Amino acid sequence: MDGWITLTDIVQVLKKMSAEIDGPIRSYIGDEEPAKLVEASRQYPYAGGKRMRPAMVIASAGAAGGDRDKAVPLAVAIEYIHNFTLIHDDLMDGDEKRRGMTTIHVGYGMPTAVLAGDALFAKAFEIISTLDVPDSVLRPILRIVTKAVWDLARGQQMDIDNEGRIVSMEEYIETIRLKTSVLFAAGAAGGALCGGGDERTVEAVHEYAMLLGVGFQMFDDYLGIMGDPAKTGKSAGNDIRKGKSTVMVTHALKSIDDPAVLEEFKAILGKQDASEDEIQRARRIMTDSGSIGYAKDLADEYARMAVEKIAFLPPGEDRDFMIALARFSVDRDV
Ligand code: IPE
Ligand code: IPE
Ligand code: MG
Ligand code: MG
Repeated sequence: MDGWITLTDIVQVLKKMSAEIDGPIRSYIGDEEPAKLVEASRQYPYAGGKRMRPAMVIASAGAAGGDRDKAVPLAVAIEYIHNFTLIHDDLMDGDEKRRGMTTIHVGYGMPTAVLAGDALFAKAFEIISTLDVPDSVLRPILRIVTKAVWDLARGQQMDIDNEGRIVSMEEYIETIRLKTSVLFAAGAAGGALCGGGDERTVEAVHEYAMLLGVGFQMFDDYLGIMGDPAKTGKSAGNDIRKGKSTVMVTHALKSIDDPAVLEEFKAILGKQDASEDEIQRARRIMTDSGSIGYAKDLADEYARMAVEKIAFLPPGEDRDFMIALARFSVDRDV
């Protein structure tokens, strides 16, 4: 059942796939006026990132038995949509660093960040309209991708509404399914559709990506607290300052036995100007309450469930890559 790609290999494979789609990613945005908007729209796509979503689109097309090259434009479109949501997400979250660079709203101002996001969003659908697939395949692709963006907006609204609230595990999981998993799932299902996959395959990769997305976001929340900003390219600790509901916080609030420690933890949560020492104290409390370990184990469990969904696919490089990608989602430092 195990894929042949190890966790060390997957970083290399992702880098290779990323290099392959770098050209296509850069080919769709020409030099137009105003240059400020074009530059702002290019910053995240050109900066790279892990490019897990486009890699998943391409592997999914291959795993479905199709021509991987045909899925490349869809892979670019999904990455553009991801990048559009990152621009708007950074604006909403008030974050200053992404992919090691100054975020768009900080560098170019809020109006340009809104427009650059919208522009990438539009470009993605222009690219999808040119896919080399029959209309009978294009329609379901369009439906699934548009629905994903709608659901993602719902998830992002829930995420914002959850700030400063005590959120149940069910609410947390529903939020991250919507804000994160649906785009992975649209990419995987869209890739399988491009590759001529049958219904069972399309459904399986969709379910795989939904589960992978949950594990991925849980682990991302872990990195947002415990990760090294020099590696993630994003600041750490701000989720605590904003009182963002994550699996670690939800678990900690239920598990801290000592009432004094619980009060101390609650006082740091959502404290906008919490010092680095206070953030460090919150990290220690969540580690001692077992909440950090709990979140990592749960993320692992989602990755395992994701892998199960695609175990029936024919063995080969693409399926093995998808298996490794699920593991990488919950075991990475970037
Ligand atoms: C960041 O996604 C946004 C989340 C859904 C957590 P990635 O961690 O995939 O970001 P990049 O594309 O590698 O920069
Ligand atoms: C980003 O979520 C998810 C999107 C849908 C864009 P977060 O706000 O949790 O992720 P980071 O930490 O900014 O990447
Ligand atoms: Mg954010
Ligand atoms: Mg956010």
